Amino acid sequence: MSIIQCKINEILGAEIAGVDLTKSVSDVTRAELNALFAEHAVLVFRDQSLTPPQFMQAAEIFGSLMEQQIKKFVLPDYPLVGCNSTKDLPRKNGKLQVRGENYHTDHSNDIAPPKATSLMAVEIPTYGGDTQFVDVRRAYDDLSETQKTTLQRLRSKHVHESSRSPRSFAKLSPEDMAKIPHTLQPLVIQHPISNRPALYLNTGRMEGIEGMSPNEGFALIDELYQHATQPRYEYRHQWRVGDMVIWDNRSVMHQANADYDPEEYRYLYRVMLQGDKLQSFD
Ligand code: SIN
Repeated sequence: MSIIQCKINEILGAEIAGVDLTKSVSDVTRAELNALFAEHAVLVFRDQSLTPPQFMQAAEIFGSLMEQQIKKFVLPDYPLVGCNSTKDLPRKNGKLQVRGENYHTDHSNDIAPPKATSLMAVEIPTYGGDTQFVDVRRAYDDLSETQKTTLQRLRSKHVHESSRSPRSFAKLSPEDMAKIPHTLQPLVIQHPISNRPALYLNTGRMEGIEGMSPNEGFALIDELYQHATQPRYEYRHQWRVGDMVIWDNRSVMHQANADYDPEEYRYLYRVMLQGDKLQSFD
């Protein structure tokens, strides 16, 4: 009999209890968690407080770890584990320039973007610093049949930083920059496990739409972004120390918030899981 308890969030995601992630899990539990992950796309595990090796082991329930792109933010003893720390963030007019503001999906310019990303909260400010998620599967489902047919045949070139990016990206070394791919990605992708279609958007990295003029392409991207980021598709995670959250980059977009006191400390471990080349939904 399963020990997993699963509380489904109203809009998106599920909170899992009854699993101790400091220990390895059985094959049955692993299979159940993966099935829940494919369905709910955001899984929240409270009260875990994992060390970096425990966090890596927990994330590996869902796949294989991949390298962090920004090497200056990795843990020296565990290079597959990155960290999101207020101490690494620049400020502009007293406001922290947090990484990941504006909804996005991670490394969408990779040929095989990470299938999932996970954060584990080590220190959290007393107010703010939530991470928001929107369900881009439901956003696609709600489009008209005409829109779906039009979008299914479109692709966008994803680059390191779009010429119309609403946010700036961390500056990479020339060596790291030389390794960055540019990839044509479908606008509508199909999830390899659930088979569900989803919008694939990242305004920071999309360089227009193939076959459209820049203005036409960026206008369509903006229209779809406005549609997909409506509150009716959103789960907003309020962090507590010891939370581990994992999300499926093929089913949701996420964004960080800079709304907390910059003098307070926010520190999370971060890992990503290897993905496959994205499949278009036909
Ligand atoms: C990110 O991975 O985009 C950052 C999320 C966060 O720190 O809330």
